[in-house]
Amino acid sequence: MSVRRIGVLTSGGDSPGMNPCVRSVVRTALYHGIECYGIRRGYNGLITGDVLRLDEKNISHIINRGGTILYTARSKEFLTEEGQQRAASTCKFLGLDGIVAIGGDGTFRGAAALSKFGINVICIPATIDNDICCTNYSIGFDTAANTAIECIDKLRDTMQSHERCSVVEVMGRNAGYLAMYVGLAVGATAVLVPEKEIDFEEDVVEKIRQARMNGFTHYMIVVAEGAGSAADIAAKIKDAVDLDPRVTVLGHIQRGGCPTGRDRVNATKMGYLAVEMLINGKTNRIICTKDGSFRDVDIQEGLAMARGIQPIEVDVLAAMTGI
Ligand code: F6P
Repeated sequence: MSVRRIGVLTSGGDSPGMNPCVRSVVRTALYHGIECYGIRRGYNGLITGDVLRLDEKNISHIINRGGTILYTARSKEFLTEEGQQRAASTCKFLGLDGIVAIGGDGTFRGAAALSKFGINVICIPATIDNDICCTNYSIGFDTAANTAIECIDKLRDTMQSHERCSVVEVMGRNAGYLAMYVGLAVGATAVLVPEKEIDFEEDVVEKIRQARMNGFTHYMIVVAEGAGSAADIAAKIKDAVDLDPRVTVLGHIQRGGCPTGRDRVNATKMGYLAVEMLINGKTNRIICTKDGSFRDVDIQEGLAMARGIQPIEVDVLAAMTGI
């Protein structure tokens, strides 16, 4: 079957790098003489028919822009069989030969639902949580991590001057990859992630004590939002060792800003691959990275994969914290 017209959508939480990815999908489609339509507000756009034709003028100057020009949403309606049916009908009505869905776990579940109705779908991982199990890399993680690192470096300056303890909450409702990565990069005193049950005495108090014994007079505790609130942890630290920690919740700052070069280039390559895959008749796949190269896996298989924190990551953290 020849591909004449495709759609592209971004859904779930936005992630820096979604725009370069959309740009790449559009450019690659145009390069092959394929029409490309932007589906706005995630799957809601398919339900309501909120689509617009994309060409060079829509996508110029977005390679370095955060957010997503297509808007995004977590669609409740699309979770129903009726919503999915309506979305599939829109695809058929518009004559879309394939959809490129850019987002995280929820986006991929949506794509799998669409493919049940015979719609060709290719998924691209884009979430700052980096918690898509079948891929090592997710668009936006690099930018979010670097934003958090820059903020924490700034915090450290003032914590050091005042000889204080800082508790910083980074995003990651269910996953601690961002916290772990950032914690290693800033040389945190302790890092708390949802994947590992917290022993407050060992994982926080003892780490602060060790740091003090090693001559430190300021302490940086990094906590993933899924591991507990920074405010609660700060209160417990005050109770336990009578420090007066300052709390910073980085929040959505981590999802904004210019994507890094790494995110821009990977987003561009993944967008290109997605269109090539549709042209080559592939469907129901997630593009992923493994051992430094791009692969693709079946959506259901990809969603079913489990990925805990690697033992090496736990070991490195244990050796690097509390010093
Ligand atoms: O994109 C994933 C994520 O960043 C989570 O870590 C976080 O809990 C969630 O999004 C918050 O998203 P929102 O406030 O946009 O619903």
